[in-house]
Amino acid sequence: MNKYTDSVKLISERLDEITDYEKCAYDTLLKAEKYSVTAGGKHLRGLILLETAKIGGAASSSVADYACAVELVHTYSLIHDDLPEMDNDDLRRGLPTCHKKFGTAIALLAGDALLTKAFNLISNDTHFDCKHKLDCIRILSQACGEHGMLAGQTLDKLCENKNADLQSLTELHNRKTTDMFCAAVKMGCVIGDISDDICRQLTEGMNLLGLVFQIKDDILDVTSDTESLGKPVMSDFKSQKSTFVSLLGLEKSYSLIDSLVLQAKKLPIFQQIPFYNDLADYFINRKK
Ligand code: IPE
Ligand code: IPE
Ligand code: MG
Ligand code: MG
Ligand code: MG
Repeated sequence: MNKYTDSVKLISERLDEITDYEKCAYDTLLKAEKYSVTAGGKHLRGLILLETAKIGGAASSSVADYACAVELVHTYSLIHDDLPEMDNDDLRRGLPTCHKKFGTAIALLAGDALLTKAFNLISNDTHFDCKHKLDCIRILSQACGEHGMLAGQTLDKLCENKNADLQSLTELHNRKTTDMFCAAVKMGCVIGDISDDICRQLTEGMNLLGLVFQIKDDILDVTSDTESLGKPVMSDFKSQKSTFVSLLGLEKSYSLIDSLVLQAKKLPIFQQIPFYNDLADYFINRKK
């Protein structure tokens, strides 16, 4: 994904900028937000939004805040995901998790603040009109809400210590992870004024790749090491999570992601725009 470092840099610089703050009585909250947001995530969801909007000719500089909004929601989801009552993890993006550094109360509040900040950022944007902004707000709120990412996180908790079947596990993964990837591509289509047909194809492809991303995450939990991953390994195993590795084993999980990627690569838009092909390869081969 080296070809896209400029886009990723644009997102990380803007994230740094929008989390700047001045000293005040509650600056521990603002410090916690900045700490997690600038800890060095891969910014994949923001990148997908940016590169998709580019197809329609939208300038990255005007789209950056929409990419940041998706990244803020994503970081909030990770802060809450790591909490003791959730996955109880101590390391994220190579650093102590937000609650380890700032305590659980501030981590909860920092997550809440980032979620709210995302929608405030879109509302305040001056590059696109109200229709574009409202469509983005609708897409993002749907994806991260009770029938999207939060549904997935709920299913993830409910399936601990259980052997979820393939259908339930696919639903769980699609809600907790795929929905946010699909939101990124759909928001990119809105901002780039991309045709319904192309948007449908991209959403279909991202539905496949989102699942690939989470299955690979399940695989990395048992095959990687903490240093490469920047988060604890064997965390799913210790929490007795339902994962593709626990259900199918490693070999079948690898074959499944290969076949899902193959399916995505057959879509005409994946063959026309190199970014999606590169993304598919990255999702399969990524080490972190
Ligand atoms: C981690 O997502 C959460 C999952 C959905 C598996 P990423 O691997 O994209 O996390 P960052 O943003 O790069 O840290
Ligand atoms: C998290 O899934 C998905 C979210 C919505 C945050 P995981 O719990 O598997 O993500 P990691 O492995 O902690 O990054
Ligand atoms: Mg989790
Ligand atoms: Mg987790
Ligand atoms: Mg995981």
